[in-house]
Amino acid sequence: MLKNDMDIVNVRLREDDGAVVIVDQTRLPNRLEYLELDQAEQMYQAIKKLQVRGAPAIGIFAAFSMYVLSRSWRDCLRQEFLRHFHETADYLNSSRPTAVNLSWALKRMGRVLEEHPELSPEQLLPLLKREALRIQEEDIAMCRAISEHGCSLLRDGMGVITHCNAGPLATSRYGTAQGPFYLAHERGVDIRVFADETRPLLQGARLTAFELQRAGVDVTLICDNMASLVMKNGWVDMCFVGCDRMAMNGDFANKIGTSGLAILAHHYGVPVYTLMPTSTIDRSCPDGAHIVIEERDPEEIRSLHYCEPMAPAGVKCFNPAFDVTDHSLLAGIITEKGICRPPFTESLAALFAEEEKE
Ligand code: MRU
Repeated sequence: MLKNDMDIVNVRLREDDGAVVIVDQTRLPNRLEYLELDQAEQMYQAIKKLQVRGAPAIGIFAAFSMYVLSRSWRDCLRQEFLRHFHETADYLNSSRPTAVNLSWALKRMGRVLEEHPELSPEQLLPLLKREALRIQEEDIAMCRAISEHGCSLLRDGMGVITHCNAGPLATSRYGTAQGPFYLAHERGVDIRVFADETRPLLQGARLTAFELQRAGVDVTLICDNMASLVMKNGWVDMCFVGCDRMAMNGDFANKIGTSGLAILAHHYGVPVYTLMPTSTIDRSCPDGAHIVIEERDPEEIRSLHYCEPMAPAGVKCFNPAFDVTDHSLLAGIITEKGICRPPFTESLAALFAEEEKE
């Protein structure tokens, strides 16, 4: 077990299977509060409001949600059960558009129904539960492998910059972009992490700094607009970021500000890696222009997280939650299968060709 493998379990089933239990990530770092959710509307809102967030974590959460809700349709005829299931999956899927893991996990749950046309709703329930647990277990294994591959690039004395939160709270355990930091720390590799605060929702300050500090990793929190100075000072040797959806040419969407950070890193000769499970690669997406970027409530810029508003009431705001980083800025894509190098159109295609052979 990793030292950061905290007592905090961000997403799980309640013991009686009657609800999904999550850490309310909007309350961290000041309050560690758990929510028990058993209604589709609550689950939709939990994703939308980022009470549960991070691409892999929302996929896991959606899978558990579908199982919990399916239990309430257990007495329906199969046709009616299927209708409830698909309508609810579409509803949950509409909560946030960018992270592909959400639709990926919902499709996996739907496949259980397709593969067993002979089973009644009651008989499907244990299979749905097993699939949701599998999605979570596989994520733990993938994050562990990603962390190993990422850690292989880290050396004593290195500085690494990261953006947003792609740690255990955003996955099931370990994390993706932040996973290597825990392994390095555990193995006595002396690294310094710079965490961007990540305006406007402050996932870097509230979650990444919280997780890394708790694990004893040397972390320094900076405002997003300080990354350039930190790189100019020569304190950063590498940039590790997460991913919400990767296109087949290596363009990838991640938290707003990632592309700016990658451009800065390019300027200062700092290699940029994105770390993600292969479930975050959207095989139907040829390039970043096809990725839908979520736009969020302007109040997140104007007033949220402030004691009083920090912008004139009603001022026009533009609040995209993600941006797309061009593949040309990437030194590598780190998945559970290893490190893909440019040209990514070829290395990503080879990744899936190998998978098909297995
Ligand atoms: O809006 P969020 O907080 O869900 O955005 C999260 C990110 O951008 C993460 O970097 C990404 O989901 C990868 S999490 C392993």
